[in-house]
Amino acid sequence: MTVGRTVVIGQGYVGLPVAMRAVHAGYDVLGFEVDAAKAVALNDGRSHVEDITAEALREALDTGRYRASADVADLAGFDVAVISVPTPMGEGVPDLSYIESAAATLAPHVRSGSTVILESTTYPGTTEELVAPILEAGSGLSAGADFHLGYSPERIDPGNPNWRLENTPKVVSGMDAASLAAVQGFFDRLVERTVPVSGTREAELTKLLENTFRHVNIALVNELAMFARDLGIDVWDAIDAASTKPFGYMRFTPGPGVGGHCLPIDPSYLSWQVERSLGQTFRFVELANDVNEHMPDYVVRRVQAMLNDQRKAVNGSTVLVYGLAYKANTSDARETPSRPIIEQLQDLGARVLLVDPHVADAQVPDGVEQRTGTAADLSDADIAVYLVDHDDNDTATIVGAGVPVLDCRHALHGPDVQHL
Ligand SMILES: NC(=O)c1ccc[n+]([C@@H]2O[C@H](COP(=O)([O-])OP(=O)(O)OC[C@H]3O[C@@H](n4cnc5c(N)ncnc54)[C@H](O)[C@@H]3O)[C@@H](O)[C@H]2O)c1
Repeated sequence: MTVGRTVVIGQGYVGLPVAMRAVHAGYDVLGFEVDAAKAVALNDGRSHVEDITAEALREALDTGRYRASADVADLAGFDVAVISVPTPMGEGVPDLSYIESAAATLAPHVRSGSTVILESTTYPGTTEELVAPILEAGSGLSAGADFHLGYSPERIDPGNPNWRLENTPKVVSGMDAASLAAVQGFFDRLVERTVPVSGTREAELTKLLENTFRHVNIALVNELAMFARDLGIDVWDAIDAASTKPFGYMRFTPGPGVGGHCLPIDPSYLSWQVERSLGQTFRFVELANDVNEHMPDYVVRRVQAMLNDQRKAVNGSTVLVYGLAYKANTSDARETPSRPIIEQLQDLGARVLLVDPHVADAQVPDGVEQRTGTAADLSDADIAVYLVDHDDNDTATIVGAGVPVLDCRHALHGPDVQHL
């Protein structure tokens, strides 16, 4: 017996885990996905999201309560719909076209008593000012009075084995008390703890606050790392020491820049709204963007300097790059800082070799030769640049190869290794 029928719109990094969890909670789940090939693969038991193993997907399919589909007719008759579609930036402006299209597709299937939950990251006001009117126009019903509407941000951290959807507290909201109760009731079945907030705008802002906080603090340590090096101070030693403080400090570490779907984009949703609504500049966000966006330039300058120490130019050198994914143990290469680093090195005339078994071949930039990271690959290189600390990187071989290494993750140690 099922506890209700759920549709999850968008079967990506966010939507697929939600769908799996809803199956686990006893719902009959339709994973609606515009990419028909993805829907076919999911129904065949092939998962494109690392956090959902083929076994977990197979288990869900075997219950007979999960199916993916690209057919809008399959949306009919849902109790709860979750919208988890992309929210990119287009030309410096939030691109909400995916949300608009998902809401318009869903609208004719909204019935009296249904619940619709937006889960995509977006600026405050989207749920009530953008999604509600689209759902109302397409259904002929009134949000709040006839159907429930709310927002619940996703906190999923791809590749994190400790904090998963079910044990990470989930912020929930509704446009009115009945909507909040419906949204909370749904997620109470899926996760261990829900955190109700006063309204949808507060829930939308919560997600942007979390990511802006992270973005700003990463920019802080990135800038500090550059200054500390020029001052001859080991910033990593200072970070390790500061991290022993049990209160009032949170550890963030320098890196080659920020990537993924969230950090390079979400804070700009907030600064765009502040600018548009208040005519003011969100200075912290602008500053953090400036620092983090220039980290790839800094990495390339450090490579130049290390090659210079060997009386070599970037032009004509072979650079072995570790990592194209935006972070460790994921195949996600969206907005990855590795890409501008590789492109700048190529523009300067370097031959670039890449080790990253996680990302799909189609993601690899033109002209880059893929390698597996053997001792022979290292002996081909004038320098190695360690950008992503995947668990399956052969770090002993890197450190023992006698090749200069720029380690941007503080994961390697040895006489040939320099840190960011
Ligand atoms: N990836 C993360 O770690 C993460 C974490 C928290 C929040 N978010 C947010 O969640 C949202 C989704 O991100 P994601 O990483 O899952 O993206 P994704 O690209 O992995 O998945 C989105 C899926 O939606 C599909 N899609 C697009 N339009 C559709 C439509 N109209 N109908 C049906 N399917 C449609 C796409 O084909 C894609 O498969 C974004 O707003 C993102 O910012 C992502």
